[in-house]
Amino acid sequence: MSREEQHNIVFETIKQRRSIGKMTDQSPTRQQIEHMLEAATHAPNHHKVEPWRFFVLAGKARNELGEIMAASLATRMADTTSEKAQAIISKERAKPLRAPVLLVVAAERPQQDNVIDIENVAATAAAVQNMLLAAEEMGLACMWRTGDAAYDPHVKRWLGLAPEDHIVAIVYVGHAAIPRLERHPRPVKQKTTWLSWEDKDE
Ligand SMILES: Cc1cc2nc3c(=O)[nH]c(=O)nc-3n(C[C@H](O)[C@H](O)[C@H](O)COP(=O)(O)O)c2cc1C
Repeated sequence: MSREEQHNIVFETIKQRRSIGKMTDQSPTRQQIEHMLEAATHAPNHHKVEPWRFFVLAGKARNELGEIMAASLATRMADTTSEKAQAIISKERAKPLRAPVLLVVAAERPQQDNVIDIENVAATAAAVQNMLLAAEEMGLACMWRTGDAAYDPHVKRWLGLAPEDHIVAIVYVGHAAIPRLERHPRPVKQKTTWLSWEDKDE
């Protein structure tokens, strides 16, 4: 395959990818998850520190995460006993069950003086996008989520992360139960300033 054909495949996959919020119970295979993780590790990263850490949550691990999220939410609520409060807590508990597999992707805090925290987060975000594109190519559905859980010290502790590590994404992975929503990003023109660019005849 020529470089140009390859380029177009990547570009088409980028344009085709959309977040899918509802999934069936059908689990991705281990090989598919491993393929996504492999794609992630090819992301650019400064000082080659490969700051990403992955946690694959399936089956009961999702319930355990839900319990931690619900308990944590309860500590932040003034009332936990009313029917309404119980419903909110139950909803939180069920959140990780929205996909058969969750990939928690964390950026490790800098371990060397020359490493900058935000660059580890940036590299890990690039790794997440690689995962989403690899999943898209395999016909899987994904949803990059964060929410309170991503910033919750209890969740980090459960995963063995330090408070200074960052949960960059909780990627919900499965098979689509709904059609993808269309999204038309704003024209690049609105976001771009060209400096000293001269159009030349090609
Ligand atoms: C850092 C980050 C955090 C996100 N967190 C959530 C989230 O908590 N809940 C959610 O519904 N979507 C979340 N999203 C997904 C965005 O809502 C989604 O990417 C956006 O609506 C654009 O749609 P598209 O992915 O289909 O192009 C997150 C995306 C990013 C990059």
